[in-house]
Amino acid sequence: MQVGTGKIVVLGTGGTIAGTATEAGDNIGYTAGQVGIGQLLEAIPGLEQAAGGRIEAEQIAQIDSKDMEFAVWRQLSHRCAQLLADPDVRGVVVTHGTDTLEETAWFLDSVLAADRPVVLACAMRPASAMVPDGPQNLLDAVVLAATPGARGVMTVVAGTIHTARHVQKVHPYKVDAFSSGEAGPLGWVEEGTVRLASGWPAPSVPKPGALRHVADTFVWPRVEVLTSHVGADGRIVDLMVREGVDGIVVAATGNGTLHHALGSALERAHASGVEVRVATRCALGRVLPKPGDTLPHSEGLSPVKARITLLLELLARARQR
Ligand code: SIN
Repeated sequence: MQVGTGKIVVLGTGGTIAGTATEAGDNIGYTAGQVGIGQLLEAIPGLEQAAGGRIEAEQIAQIDSKDMEFAVWRQLSHRCAQLLADPDVRGVVVTHGTDTLEETAWFLDSVLAADRPVVLACAMRPASAMVPDGPQNLLDAVVLAATPGARGVMTVVAGTIHTARHVQKVHPYKVDAFSSGEAGPLGWVEEGTVRLASGWPAPSVPKPGALRHVADTFVWPRVEVLTSHVGADGRIVDLMVREGVDGIVVAATGNGTLHHALGSALERAHASGVEVRVATRCALGRVLPKPGDTLPHSEGLSPVKARITLLLELLARARQR
């Protein structure tokens, strides 16, 4: 087992990993965010050893991640930053629901200078299941967080390591529910050892002031995600503009194409000062810019991650005014 120096701190936020059902055989009718983080850690043999002998737990939230809120993100990012600034901390693990894990991972990657590992751990089966996957995922996350040289925001699910940038939940039920798409996984955790596909990701470089803007903000900009589809029209965009939306990310068809009615409404919104970003609704690949494009693209980010980047851009702009 590869172990660095310093302690591992596990921050609990809830999710299925902390979920319970009344029947052990029920893998879907459970309530997420029920078991405390201390109790989750106690149930895993060998965890302290994997952490190099020192592991601490803190409960940041206890929620189903579909209900993740900016207030929790503010608290979580603040605590992660404090821990990363502490030379006695080797790495941070965050337990989280799978449903919005990729959003929290991308948010943390965007605001933290993670020169050490921040590893999100999750599960597709509740803690009360006949065969829960949480204990192994959590053990693997601790192994990853304790591995010398590890850095950046990552997750490890079903033994596969994904970076914050590429990870996406791709299956609603399977235990191996995540993918890094065309980028492929960062590596694997196998029997307590990390095997990398190539190397550690470059350290994330947050935009100057990003964390401070998050800490100082209590009312976040309003950024919505829309989809272009058969029969789409622009009325929803006009409605959002009237409601005072600050930004819209559109999950476009194919290579950034939009139903003409939706496209016209988005052009009008953009001209009136609403920020618009075009992502693709395709599961793989990215929008390739072409001459004549008038709306900015998401630079390869999925619609939900493009929304987070736009939120942070708008926050920064608001703080500079
Ligand atoms: C959640 O995202 O909190 C519930 C679903 C899960 O963790 O798999």
